[in-house]
Amino acid sequence: MKKSNNTYLGYKGPVQNLMMRQGDNSDIKKKLVSLPRLNLTKRQLCDLELLMTGAFSPLTGFMNEDDYQSVVDRMRLANDIVWSIPITLALDARRFKEGQEIILADSFGKALALMHIESIYKPDKEKEAESIYRTTNTEHFGVNHLFNEMGSYYFGGTIKGINSIERYDFSDLRHTPQQLQDFFREKKWDRIIGFQTRNPLHKVHYALIKQAAEQYQGNVLLHPAVGMTKDGDVDYISRVRSYIQLQKYIKDFSTISLLPLAMRMAGPKEALWHAIIRKNYGCTHFIVGRDHASPGKNSAGKNYYGAYDAQQLVQKYEKELGITVVPFQELVYVEEKQSYIPVSEVKKEHSVKKISGTQVRNMLKAGESIPEWFSFPEIIEELQKGIAKQKKDGLTIFFTGLSGAGKSTMATLLYYKLIELQDKPVTLLDGDIIRQNLSKGLGFSHEDRNENIKRIGFVADLITKHGGIAICSAIAPYAESRQMNRKRIGKHGRYVEIYISTPVEVCMQRDTKELYKKYKLGIIKGLTGLDDPYEQPEQAELTIDTTNMKPKESVEKIISFLKDNNYITIQTPYAQ
Ligand code: ADX
Repeated sequence: MKKSNNTYLGYKGPVQNLMMRQGDNSDIKKKLVSLPRLNLTKRQLCDLELLMTGAFSPLTGFMNEDDYQSVVDRMRLANDIVWSIPITLALDARRFKEGQEIILADSFGKALALMHIESIYKPDKEKEAESIYRTTNTEHFGVNHLFNEMGSYYFGGTIKGINSIERYDFSDLRHTPQQLQDFFREKKWDRIIGFQTRNPLHKVHYALIKQAAEQYQGNVLLHPAVGMTKDGDVDYISRVRSYIQLQKYIKDFSTISLLPLAMRMAGPKEALWHAIIRKNYGCTHFIVGRDHASPGKNSAGKNYYGAYDAQQLVQKYEKELGITVVPFQELVYVEEKQSYIPVSEVKKEHSVKKISGTQVRNMLKAGESIPEWFSFPEIIEELQKGIAKQKKDGLTIFFTGLSGAGKSTMATLLYYKLIELQDKPVTLLDGDIIRQNLSKGLGFSHEDRNENIKRIGFVADLITKHGGIAICSAIAPYAESRQMNRKRIGKHGRYVEIYISTPVEVCMQRDTKELYKKYKLGIIKGLTGLDDPYEQPEQAELTIDTTNMKPKESVEKIISFLKDNNYITIQTPYAQ
């Protein structure tokens, strides 16, 4: 659609369905075998799903350079339709060619869509960050992702869906735009007020959606984002369980559906994007309160956006978008009225009560009770269950250092001490043993050494994720694979690197495995610390030189460190 009479037009057409029709399939079958396949990340899968189902209409694929530049420069697609967030497929190298077709697949390699690559380009990320996030500060969730996790090349092109993305968790609560639109039609709802959230909902939110439904005489679509949200947010499982509990209070005037949206925390521009998406799902109205899609404060304690910037921006475009904003001022609890009222209506004599999201999390963690004015008991119970699960948080302890430094001895002693002193299951992953099974066949080249460490990290991650303690000991000479493990495991639990810094001369004297002798005799080559590099850890949580320390002393030092820093909880009867 083009400009007319000086007014731009938002997209008013039907939602796109990018899935292939039956007839198109025969051609695809042949291509499935021959075309290159790209396995997408979880985040990319969220974007692909919303593209394929039409939730991102009028987009028909990942943005090509024209649309991308236009969105960054003027918040519009190249054809003038309002669009505020770049939807791009980023890779770290020019892996494909323009004009080529590729298969987009899930992490198991199952084909999901055919992509016709029309444009490959290198974005100016600084410019993108300034335009979309109004900052280049990488403390911002979205900017950090853009600079540190997205590749440097963007691949744009149209998509044709082959298989829809299946979600097995809470599958009854997931719908395509078409399914929701049909549901609203069946129910004869004609005013549908979308409510976006990434947080657990308490009484203030209940007040907000109830007021919206009454004031606008409509029905509410509770539409929580369950793709990626900001680090530190309440996990989506606990959140969804708490929304299900909330249903009993709001079911007369609402329905719930989960949105697989990977949020960017772009405040105003994100709110506009949220409104477009909700319009595609059939909403006629959309709630925007204070601090919508806010990334929180930076380290200097400053907000990135004004509390009502998001509301104002969406209001400015509501006509063009064809969706009405339901604006809300901050609601606060006033004790005298025993209810939630807009902050502007608060009088001097009122006593206002507020608990922030962070405060609730801290109170729940400390086992404190949450006041009745703040939330519903069923919701608190779900959140408490979530916190209890977190307490089961696992831990990986990774020993790194030269051969003969004392890693295996430390790891084994620590293993026995931990099973004696605390209750979590402990697994020992010793480098030499791993090389006999999981890493059998790998050699000692730079590549193979990194691969071995990544494999150990993969298993340690699973153990940690399920609340166990993994103790790993391996030379792990390269920072790259150690960092990868730290990052991967850090997402699900805690990670402690212990550098056993015993110098090579001492290791040579000990020579428990006769490796140094073999090296001197020329039987082996590539021995770490001699003719193969060891990159010293720069951020090890603990460094121990065992030259003049007995193993028992070193392990005591490690136990005190773990205890003092709350990595482990020693069961009181056994505490020394
Ligand atoms: S968001 O990142 O998804 O926007 P959140 O789940 O906290 O975060 O907010 C959901 C919606 O409720 C947003 O539109 C937000 O502005 C609004 N909102 C949340 N709390 C309040 C409040 N106390 N007063 C007014 N609006 C609020």
